[in-house]
Amino acid sequence: MKSILSPDVVEAVNRPTATASALPNAAYRSDDFFQAERDHLFSTTWTCIGNACSIPNIGDARPVELLGMPLLMIRQHSGSIAVFHNVCRHRGNQLVREPCTYKGSVMCPYHGWTYDTDGTLLATPHVGGHGTDHIDSIDQTERGLHSVRTAEWLDLVFVNISNTAPAFEDFIAPLGARAESLVALSELERVRPATSHGAVTIEFAGNWKLCIENNLESYHLPWVHPDLNALSRLEDHYDYESADFAGQGTLAYDHTNVTSLMFPVFDGWNGRVAEYPTLYPNVFIGFHCDHLWTRIIEPLEVNRSLDHFQIYYLDDAAHSDAYELARKERFDVWKKVILEDLGVVEGMQLGRRSPAFDGGVFSPAMDAPSHHFAKWVANTLDGKV
Ligand code: FES
Ligand SMILES: [Fe+2]
Repeated sequence: MKSILSPDVVEAVNRPTATASALPNAAYRSDDFFQAERDHLFSTTWTCIGNACSIPNIGDARPVELLGMPLLMIRQHSGSIAVFHNVCRHRGNQLVREPCTYKGSVMCPYHGWTYDTDGTLLATPHVGGHGTDHIDSIDQTERGLHSVRTAEWLDLVFVNISNTAPAFEDFIAPLGARAESLVALSELERVRPATSHGAVTIEFAGNWKLCIENNLESYHLPWVHPDLNALSRLEDHYDYESADFAGQGTLAYDHTNVTSLMFPVFDGWNGRVAEYPTLYPNVFIGFHCDHLWTRIIEPLEVNRSLDHFQIYYLDDAAHSDAYELARKERFDVWKKVILEDLGVVEGMQLGRRSPAFDGGVFSPAMDAPSHHFAKWVANTLDGKV
C-alpha cells in the first residue's frame, strides 16, 4: 500500500532549511492524511487533550474528541484524572456526550450498564433476561471501560492512546529543563487558573498544523501583531529546538505596560524573558514572569480546529476582585493576538487550495522552528499508510 508521504516528499522536507520544501498541500487538505495523523501521530505520542482545571471537582467528567476518537476525562476520588475510551462495552453507545458531574456512577443511557468513575463495570441490569442481572457469558470484571494511559503536567492532561510512547517523565524532561532555565519548577507550581477572564475556546477554519507552524515563528510579528511588536520587538526574539518541542522567545517582554495593576511575579525569574515553546503535536505554553498561558489545539476535521486558551496567575492576590480589571486587560490582549494569528492561519488554509502553491519554502533565519516541526511530522509519518 502506498505510504501517506512519498519518499521524495520526506527527502525534500529533511533537507537543510535553506533548500527544504515544506509539507505539500495534501497534508493540510486530505482526509486520508488526517486519518494517518490520528493513527500514527496523535495516537502514538503523548497528546494534550485538555486542561485539568476544566474538571476541578471529584466526579467531574468531560468528553473529548481526539480527531474523531471519543475519549472521556474524569476526576477520580483520589483527585487524579483518568481518561477512558468514551464508549460503552455493551453495544458501543457513546457513554457521555456533555460535560457533567457524577455523584456516584456512570450509567449508559442505552441499556443501563453502569460503570464506576474508575471504569469498573458495576451493573448489567436484566442482562440474563428480565430480573436477572448476571449472565455467565459476560464477565463483568473483563468489561470495564478501556482506560487510556494518562499523565498531567502544568495543569495539562496528556494521553498516549497506543501505549507505546516512552515514559511520560522522559518525554517531558527536556521541556521541564527548558522551563527551569526561566524559573524553578516549584515556582511554576504556584499558579492557578484565573478566576475570571481566564479561558476561551475559538474555532477556526484551518488545519491544526498551520496553527502550530504559525506559533513557532516570530517572523510575522510586525505585520500580524503590531501592538505586541511594540512590547516585544521582532529583533528581540530568538529560536530554540529539542526533539519534541521548538519555539521562540523574547529577551524584552515588557509586562509593565500591559495592565493597570502589576501582577505578582515568580521569585527568581530570569529577567525580562518570555518563552513560547510548542510541545508537539498540539500544545503551546506561554511562560512570563507574572503569568502562564496554554493553548491546546484540538483538530476537529482536516480543515477545522479548536484553539483552547487558558491563563494562570500566581498567588491569591492575582485572583482577587481587585485584579478583575487587570485580568480583563491581560485576557483582551492575548485574545486579540490569538484572533490575529487565527486570521492568517485561515488565510494559509485558503491558499492551500491553489495548484500554484507547492508547500512553499522556509527562511533559514526566520522559519527554522516551523521547519523543525515539518520534519517532525514527515519523519513521524514516514512509511505510514
Ligand atoms: S450500549 Fe450501553 S448499555 Fe447497551
Ligand atoms: Fe502570532
